[in-house]
Amino acid sequence: MSARPDAPRIEATPEAAPSPGPSADVEARLRQQAILSEFGVEALRSTDLGILLQRATALCAQGMSAEYCKALEYLRGQDTLLVRAGVGWKSDVIGQATVGADLASPAGYALKTGRPVISNHLAVETRFRTPQLMAEHGIRRAINVLIENRDGAFGVLEVDDSREGMFEEADIAFMQGFANLLGSAIERHRTEALLRAALARQDLLAREMSHRVKNSLAIVASLLTLQARANEGEPAVLAALQDARSRVEAIAVVHDQLWRQGGAEPEGGGAGEAVPGEIDLAPFLDKLVVNLASGAPTHRLTCRAEPQRLSADLAIPIGLLVNELVTNALKYAYPAARFPGGGEIRVRAEREAGGLCVEVADDGVGLPDGFEIGRASKSLGMRVVGSLARQLAGTLTIPPTGQGTSFRLSIPMEPGAA
Ligand SMILES: Nc1ncnc2c1ncn2[C@@H]1O[C@H](COP(=O)(O)OP(=O)(O)OP(=O)(O)O)[C@@H](O)[C@H]1O
Ligand SMILES: [Mg+2]
Repeated sequence: MSARPDAPRIEATPEAAPSPGPSADVEARLRQQAILSEFGVEALRSTDLGILLQRATALCAQGMSAEYCKALEYLRGQDTLLVRAGVGWKSDVIGQATVGADLASPAGYALKTGRPVISNHLAVETRFRTPQLMAEHGIRRAINVLIENRDGAFGVLEVDDSREGMFEEADIAFMQGFANLLGSAIERHRTEALLRAALARQDLLAREMSHRVKNSLAIVASLLTLQARANEGEPAVLAALQDARSRVEAIAVVHDQLWRQGGAEPEGGGAGEAVPGEIDLAPFLDKLVVNLASGAPTHRLTCRAEPQRLSADLAIPIGLLVNELVTNALKYAYPAARFPGGGEIRVRAEREAGGLCVEVADDGVGLPDGFEIGRASKSLGMRVVGSLARQLAGTLTIPPTGQGTSFRLSIPMEPGAA
């Protein structure tokens, strides 16, 4: 510690000037304490272990006024110590050079016995040999402390110098302080890496599950298609099976969107931050409409939905309801005889005072005379629509239009509620 004659000294402040001031040794210890506490803060904040190890060696060398410092990681499989970080060494040392981990090397001794080692005269040392790396750099003296944590020994922190001088017992306390902070930081980094891996695995599992559910729904949909083909001679059965398939597909789309959006970045920079169990209504309805449009090439389907994050409990019934209404418009609004070129079907979803408004409109033939929502036919479609609207605590109306049909659902929502 008392090695460097040019070691930086703490200048006495003007107030302190009249007193003789602390001795050089006390000054050096105070400086070590200041460096140690500075490193403590950095160790707590660090996010990159490599950078932290490098910083530790730089500060440790500074605190010891030494030429060299290195952090050695113990490679168990090879029973050797690798230089992970350091200062003062030739450029090819860090990340490459190794030091023996046996009891005959000072670092190996500290590692294997757990005891700090000071050797002020390596050349005449009988306890240890001078490792090659040290000989190459003309190292005369070394001080080694163990870096450990609850996972066991990580490695060794070593300070070296090629100049005459003495490392002292008090230097061990300083270096051990560094090694202890490093040990805890390394443990935290490892635990965080394990947590990140566990989270990634859980995310993967959730995606895998969702993928399987989606595939299973696709299988159900194709079974219904097969069954429909087998009933081609019976138009009513055929239509019922095709409707059933379309409903299953709508649920599959909802599911697909849920796992794509749930907990991930909202698709296409959608509304707000992603929350598990919530999805953005806009891309969800877009996808649903694109799916329906692909089965009806003569018609023109458009979707204008404002970004709006909703809980899946709301999005699912909204999606199924839109599916029913668009399917109806595709089936009834534009009879081919009158509309050989098909027609336009518009889906719209936007915020309105006190909630959300979802509308499905066409410019077709209009609803049959006497059609009333509440007393809708025995047909399943409008009953499904009615029960979905109730589930959403919404109000379904048929606003008068000049041409065609428009269904509007108003869903009340608390401000900011999803
Ligand atoms: N957009 C529309 N344009 C014209 N008529 C429509 C429209 N939507 C619904 N209708 C009429 O309302 C009736 C009831 O629709 P609903 O969905 O309940 O039954 P469906 O589509 O015939 O059978 P499903 O139970 O398979 O849905 C339809 O038969 C049709 O006559
Ligand atoms: Mg229908």
